[in-house]
Amino acid sequence: MAKVLIVGDLHEPVSHPAYLQFCQDIYSQWNCDTIVFIGDVVDLHAISFHAAHPECPGPADEHQFALEQIQKWNDVFPKARVCIGNHDERIIRLAQSVNIPSKFLRDYPEVWNTPKWVWDYEFLVDDVCYYHGTGMNGIHPAFNAMRQRLMSVVIGHCHSSAGIKWLVNPHKRIFGMDVGTGIDVRAFQFAYGRHQVKKPVISCGIVLDGIPYHEMMPAGEGELYARKNFEKGHPSIMSLVEKRNKAMRTPVKSRSSQPLRDSRGRFRRKGWVQSAIENVFAKPI
Ligand SMILES: [Fe+2]
Repeated sequence: MAKVLIVGDLHEPVSHPAYLQFCQDIYSQWNCDTIVFIGDVVDLHAISFHAAHPECPGPADEHQFALEQIQKWNDVFPKARVCIGNHDERIIRLAQSVNIPSKFLRDYPEVWNTPKWVWDYEFLVDDVCYYHGTGMNGIHPAFNAMRQRLMSVVIGHCHSSAGIKWLVNPHKRIFGMDVGTGIDVRAFQFAYGRHQVKKPVISCGIVLDGIPYHEMMPAGEGELYARKNFEKGHPSIMSLVEKRNKAMRTPVKSRSSQPLRDSRGRFRRKGWVQSAIENVFAKPI
């Protein structure tokens, strides 16, 4: 039977800076051999039906930052199963809303450069059902999901729910486990929850031979996975945006001896604004 580590919702590029190390440590400590990402691996904040936070990067930057973060996970866990979450499928939902068929879209492994990750909506391992939990809510979302499916389930999705509840009768013993999440609650993407008292639970799950365990990440002040111990290796998204903007603002060396436009009327100087304008106007309409 499998020894499964379940990674909570990541919402890259805004996972908690210590969460990858925590999951790596738990994987080793519990001698796991199987990885399940419970979904919402990416946030796709900029590609949403909801209004984006004005401080967040646009879709292209967000994709680049998320891709870099996912590569770190892929390096550590090159083989994994990924439950597709409601955030992961935002691109598909948006494409469908404007009548774009799936044949025009790329598969998840290609978009996120994870060739050995299997992406699907649910997985069965040792009679336990793993899925994201889209649509579940309440105080015990996984317990509700377990009663709907009449089998043991592991879900994510509800960031402030975590833990295990059992249902045992003379014939059957089943459980529902809420994994918790690995998000960085300080990110602008989660500003909507700033005034909620109930906060996300940073944790992961383990299922050994069909028996579930839940591990909290000790991330408080002075604890092993405290933010300040990990922030150096995990730049904030705003620092990445600033770095990129700075690179774009780097002044171009003066070439004032050359005429500003060439014989076809296009800009000669290759400042980023001029290049952008040139690119727009050089293309046939
Ligand atoms: Fe989520």
